[in-house]
Amino acid sequence: MLQWYKIDDAQFLKDKGITEHKLGGKTICLTWFEEQLHAFSRKCPHAGAPLKNGWCERGKVICPFHRHEFDLVTGKGSPAQHDFIHIYPTKQEDGAYFVGIEKGFWQNFLASKSN
Ligand code: FES
Repeated sequence: MLQWYKIDDAQFLKDKGITEHKLGGKTICLTWFEEQLHAFSRKCPHAGAPLKNGWCERGKVICPFHRHEFDLVTGKGSPAQHDFIHIYPTKQEDGAYFVGIEKGFWQNFLASKSN
């Protein structure tokens, strides 16, 4: 089950490149690309580079270490890479921006016990 987290001042991130944020017990990356807010994994799956030090071009985030590329919508790496990053859904409601994070096992367990 998804939990939606509001991103305070999301518009101010537009000129900040890729930034890290703690949401729902996870640290994720946020960036704007072509007027869309994108949310994705913190680390590159190749060798763990922090993707906040990467950059975006052609609809992809580029890892700063060995230049693996990941699609900002699907998370898929370029074909020869055989890897991918996790993409978190984003939405806009009433001018505010949100990122959806899957609830962890214990959050789901505790929610099921309180019902
Ligand atoms: S650590 Fe990202 S491409 Fe190698």
